[in-house]
Amino acid sequence: MEYKVLKSIFKTQKAPFAILDMNALDDNIQEITKRAQGRNIRIATKSIRCRYVLNYLLEKLPHSFGWMAFTLEEAIWLSENGFTNILLGYPTYEIDLIEQVLSNEKHNSSIYFMVDKLEHIELLNEIAAKHKTHTKLCVDVDMSSTFPGIYFGVYRSSIKNAADLKSLIRSSSSFSNVKWKGLMGYEAQIAGIGDNVPGATMMNKIIGVLKSKSIKEIAERRSACLKVLADNSIELDFVNGGGTGSIESTLKESGVTEITVGSGFYQSHLFDNYSNFKHKPALFYALRIVRKPTATIFTALGGGYIASGATDGSKQPQTFLPKGMKLIKNEGAGEVQTPFEYRGKEPLKIGDLVFFRHAKAGELCERFNELILVRANKIEQIVPTYRGENKCFL
Ligand SMILES: Cc1ncc(COP(=O)(O)O)c(C=O)c1O
Repeated sequence: MEYKVLKSIFKTQKAPFAILDMNALDDNIQEITKRAQGRNIRIATKSIRCRYVLNYLLEKLPHSFGWMAFTLEEAIWLSENGFTNILLGYPTYEIDLIEQVLSNEKHNSSIYFMVDKLEHIELLNEIAAKHKTHTKLCVDVDMSSTFPGIYFGVYRSSIKNAADLKSLIRSSSSFSNVKWKGLMGYEAQIAGIGDNVPGATMMNKIIGVLKSKSIKEIAERRSACLKVLADNSIELDFVNGGGTGSIESTLKESGVTEITVGSGFYQSHLFDNYSNFKHKPALFYALRIVRKPTATIFTALGGGYIASGATDGSKQPQTFLPKGMKLIKNEGAGEVQTPFEYRGKEPLKIGDLVFFRHAKAGELCERFNELILVRANKIEQIVPTYRGENKCFL
């Protein structure tokens, strides 16, 4: 989108506000569909956080296959609103919420629980027995790699390999109210780390080498786990892997039936620097310039939307439009004031709008009640985010 066009569309809009460029979103949907080569896509709701957009993705993606929710409360809410095939991506120990699911046939048939420890299974089994029902389990297998002096991955699941999985299945065999229905392995170090970061040639090379070693190991681990399940005559509904950044490598594993994708739809800026794909920035936000402390520095109101995770500079928002704005190192994006330097051609002045991108996809929706959808340079519709529906899950 062009700066001039955005400025004229939003001449009278109260700032700050968030914009979803539907043309860019459509292009990203197409690109992701092409990248996934017909493999099913499970949509990561944490990276969308807007019901309208979730339904839009379901309608537009030819191979969408359910949802990955981030909390049980969210999964229940989605189920109440007609969403089915919901994989809870992370374990839960919220007893009242589990009761709510297992006492309700509609929720129970739609929701898969994530587990990796006996404690998770024990609790689900106990509550399922109380309600004389069965619950569906998905086991999370750790997909990290360890190289000399480097832990390449994330700390989540306690199931590190096929032997761990075998022993979890064995030790839970007396629980008669749970059923193994899914396997997930999230290769965060492939899906979530860019290998084409500008100005980081050496690091990009190292990441590339680590990624290719890890991809091989992951494939072996996942297929050994699938063998354990087959040996135990367990038939799964799905085998899940990946994320936006790993579609190409995850789909090489024939045992994986579906790939989770979220961030690539809005294309937040942490996903700009990958060698295997390029999507379009679809979600961004506008701030208004309220001060001009020097001839080349402008200060906008608000905008300090820092992303979660290890807080290095990459978690800061990025300037978007007009091109050439630069955040000030000592201040960054501030709680109420965001100064930036600009020496470009636009005759910026107090009262003008300027545009930024968030580092992570869904987190921006926690800052705004609505998304303004723009298509073909016109406002198409305004839709509520989760926050706009009074939903704050994490
Ligand atoms: C379990 C799991 N699967 C998949 C993903 C990938 O989601 P995205 O495409 O938004 O990066 C994530 C992201 O953190 C995740 O936690």
